[in-house]
Amino acid sequence: MSEHEGHRHGHGRQQGHQHGRTPGHQHGHGHQHGHGHGQGHDPQDADFSVLTEMLDLDAEVLHEHLDELTGWIDELSGGTAEKPGGRGLRVLDLGSGTGAGTFALLQRFPGADVTAVDASPAMAARLEEKAAALGVAGRVRTVVADLDTEALPAGPFDLVWASASLHHMADPGSVLAQVREVLRPGGLMVAVELEGLPRFLPDDLGIGRPGLESRVHAAQAEGRAAAGMHMTEDWGARLREAGLDVVAERVVAIDLAAPLPAAAGRYVLASLTRVRSALGDVLDAGDLATLDALTDADGPHGVPRRDDLTVRTERSVWVAVRG
Ligand SMILES: C[S@@+](CC[C@H](N)C(=O)[O-])C[C@H]1O[C@@H](n2cnc3c(N)ncnc32)[C@H](O)[C@@H]1O
Repeated sequence: MSEHEGHRHGHGRQQGHQHGRTPGHQHGHGHQHGHGHGQGHDPQDADFSVLTEMLDLDAEVLHEHLDELTGWIDELSGGTAEKPGGRGLRVLDLGSGTGAGTFALLQRFPGADVTAVDASPAMAARLEEKAAALGVAGRVRTVVADLDTEALPAGPFDLVWASASLHHMADPGSVLAQVREVLRPGGLMVAVELEGLPRFLPDDLGIGRPGLESRVHAAQAEGRAAAGMHMTEDWGARLREAGLDVVAERVVAIDLAAPLPAAAGRYVLASLTRVRSALGDVLDAGDLATLDALTDADGPHGVPRRDDLTVRTERSVWVAVRG
């Protein structure tokens, strides 16, 4: 569920329209991804590996919360999530990334299968590798589709999950309208979005000018607004506009303080590395030098040596039903 700098790669934004969308490319298991569309992530690219590491670590750091969340969804579905007759839950994961939600849902619902959609062929490939390593490849189907221009896979689905992905879409309202169409009546839509950016650093780091993180967040917010991201949407209202009934809403707060678990330390390091690379042209030389010192894992000020870091983040979750 992590957030990354969302600059679009390789293609411009197009406003989504219901008409003229084409279905995404579906994959069985372990197929090659050679599409010229999508987000153009190159698996050899250092940025891509930091990003995927961040998404993986995010899933690890948030494991308990994700588990609690899927348990809550199970309860909300009134225990009907696993259907009689041996047929399992049909799940659609939108903007699935490396599969944080996909794998949490497969674990929660042992009879379920997941269709994982992402614009990035490299993300889809990574998710397939992980599915194979976890022994669940037979329960996962990846679809490479840019939901700005391509249609959702045909339903019906019992559960649609979109975590930290709706705000990336050019026209989330149009995607949600399609979600309503592919959900079966009574099916659930779960939207998870970030409440602000995660906080890792104390105001005074003992190096550089105090207030680095506030300046980083301001620059990130500006970059996101310029990239057309939907960071301040009222997602409950968007779900209702799409004809879905919002039945529950909650905020999940994560507040880890020192000493951070090992995965959380790696998460902070990966996040700051990503920030350093994304904001190289925006921050002043002093702030960049501080970020260099923090992200120098072997240096005296590097993240692994610090005992003043936190992981503070909030996610809002909406659960809606197709009536
Ligand atoms: C912040 S990541 C979240 C990944 C995952 N859901 C999680 O919770 O870890 C957002 C994902 O949405 C995907 N994405 C962004 N825009 C998209 C679009 N227009 N169509 C499909 N996927 C998109 C990105 O490639 C990325 O994998």
